[in-house]
Amino acid sequence: MKILNTVNDVKTAIKELQKAGRKVGLVPTMGFLHAGHMSLVKKSVADNDFTVVSVFVNPTQFGPNEDLEAYPRDFENDTKLLTDAGADLIFSPSPEEMYPEGFSTKVSVSGITNALCGLSRPVHFDGVATVVTKLFNIVNPDRAYFGSKDYQQLQVIRRMVKDLNMSVEVIGMPIIRESDGLAMSSRNIYLKPEERTSALSLSKSFGLIQKLLDNGERDARVLRQKVVDYINSHSSAHVDYVEIIHPEKLNSLETVNGDIVAALAVKIGRARLIDNKLFKI
Ligand code: PAJ
Repeated sequence: MKILNTVNDVKTAIKELQKAGRKVGLVPTMGFLHAGHMSLVKKSVADNDFTVVSVFVNPTQFGPNEDLEAYPRDFENDTKLLTDAGADLIFSPSPEEMYPEGFSTKVSVSGITNALCGLSRPVHFDGVATVVTKLFNIVNPDRAYFGSKDYQQLQVIRRMVKDLNMSVEVIGMPIIRESDGLAMSSRNIYLKPEERTSALSLSKSFGLIQKLLDNGERDARVLRQKVVDYINSHSSAHVDYVEIIHPEKLNSLETVNGDIVAALAVKIGRARLIDNKLFKI
């Protein structure tokens, strides 16, 4: 497996491959890889001739008071995991390589970013859309893989690819969870043991919603409030948002009369965790 750090080196390597008709898959990540990331990598390795994994903690998607500096990194272990999984190339640029002096362009998706994480993290999705556009332009992948753990991010990428006529196929993949239900996240490392227990309230709240739906509850505000109360009853858990949303438009619903997604963001100690689940009605 190759490790490249510059845009030019990656472009040259990919051009050669594509001249030879090889299909390229891209898995964008910020590293500190876990089984959630690896499920995307394995799918890409299965689907394509050549898999590129980018490992880049993208500064532009972090707000001024967020965890950019503290964000966990372990490049050595990432390299080992990716080698074992059969990835072909790691692209691991420096921030200066991605954002050289004078960088002035931003890709901004409106509408669906005006909800959920877009409200609590105002610069976040511009940063994501911009870096993912750059990665698409650098790697020119046939397919790109994203997890539905970041549900809104996946919808933002789909919208951007459609709106800007990008010729990449976006593949959304299911959420990988720990055996007790906690959605895997690089940020789970921030959790102290007792916070780890409180963090289970996110995935457990989906059981609560299912039970209410099974009992005929169709008032989305009732579902929402019950989940807020349930999560906030756990020590060191503070709800950022709980929303019952339309699966594609992402707008908050008052009444359930079709499929819904429950999307949540919760601060637990230092960690801000997100999770979501689709409910078929
Ligand atoms: P990161 O948080 O490292 O996640 C990289 C990819 O892994 C994303 O598509 C994310 O949805 C997916 N992922 C994370 N946890 C997962 C889980 N438990 N199950 C399934 N997939 C999971 O998301 C980002 O990085 C960045 O915003 C990025 C897209 C790389 C742009 O900088």
